[in-house]
Amino acid sequence: APDTQAQPPQMGFNNWNSTHCRDEFNEKMIRGIADKFISLGLRDAGYRYVNIDDCWANWQRDKNGNLEPNPKRFPSGIKALAEYIHQHGLKFGLYSSAGTSTCEPLQENRGFPGGLGHEKQDAATIASWGVDYLKYDNCNNQKVDALKRYTAMAEALRATGRPIFFSVCEWGENKPWLWAGKPPVDAGSWRTTGDISDSYASMLKNFKQNVVLDGYATPGHYNDPDMLEVGNGGMTDVEYQSHFSLWSIMAAPLLIGTDLRTIKPDALKILLNKEVIAVDQDPLGIQGKQVRDADGIHVIVKPLKDGSRAVAVFNETDTPHDVTVPATEIGLNSGASYNVRDLWAHSQVKGDGSLKVSLQPHATAIYRISSL
Ligand code: GLA
Repeated sequence: APDTQAQPPQMGFNNWNSTHCRDEFNEKMIRGIADKFISLGLRDAGYRYVNIDDCWANWQRDKNGNLEPNPKRFPSGIKALAEYIHQHGLKFGLYSSAGTSTCEPLQENRGFPGGLGHEKQDAATIASWGVDYLKYDNCNNQKVDALKRYTAMAEALRATGRPIFFSVCEWGENKPWLWAGKPPVDAGSWRTTGDISDSYASMLKNFKQNVVLDGYATPGHYNDPDMLEVGNGGMTDVEYQSHFSLWSIMAAPLLIGTDLRTIKPDALKILLNKEVIAVDQDPLGIQGKQVRDADGIHVIVKPLKDGSRAVAVFNETDTPHDVTVPATEIGLNSGASYNVRDLWAHSQVKGDGSLKVSLQPHATAIYRISSL
């Protein structure tokens, strides 16, 4: 029977942001990542999926038209890799495109085989390998209607009988927030933006595009502003804390995009902040709502299952700001007394009336606020 209980946003890893298609993306790396999920405490913190992105496949289908992995990168095969990951108590994700070929053109005029027109055969292959998750991209789509293309794969995946999480990756081109989360596609998440890169400007851009779409996310069906860049070195730790806080208050997928085999302690600490993760993973599954967007200050409020609310206050500007957030702005009575837990400082104070926050440039404060 299908699991009808709403799932929180997916958490895990995907190699794309750290390796793109470089040779270091191979089975040795991915096995190493799975090992790190255990040894670094990521599995215990809720990270589940180890996903591989574009360039895993061989140039051609085999003589029967089946997908097969690139023999240099994945000499042991995808099934063996999935088994290795399952043995770690983790789940395994794969990538394809709803087009004639995937996005990365490594040879002239030619990419890796895509799923368009091959949905049933590819879904059957994927299920036979023990895949738990498919990210389905949008390149080389031959202008076939998006709903049609994503429905064909969604139905093919369901027909395999194996539960396979479906992640729609069409970059917000056809307003997927209007259709991807509902039957017949019924995806767990859909990309709302173009590709993120490891810069503050890119993170900010994706945040702004995604934060206004809160009305379209429903429990188990989430807006996806793209994968995390935390740890990749192009932002400061303050900016990475903002990235992680903002993604969490938006109930976004938390897919780590840095090489966990070489991650620095400060970045790891961000990814392992269980209080921030709990905001993302709250069982209500509601995306936070932006209640203020003025003069570069953003206030976002997310209702939580225990009756409390998460509040993020983000200073997008290049100068420090002292921000006052009236109780009424976050849905409390003006005279209310409340507990304010600071999820980066891990400390708690009592508050009443307005919340006062001092923010460095590009910083986000995130709180869990419960009335007394
Ligand atoms: C697209 C996607 C990215 C990544 C690449 C791979 O750009 O949006 O997330 O999967 O393709 O080529």
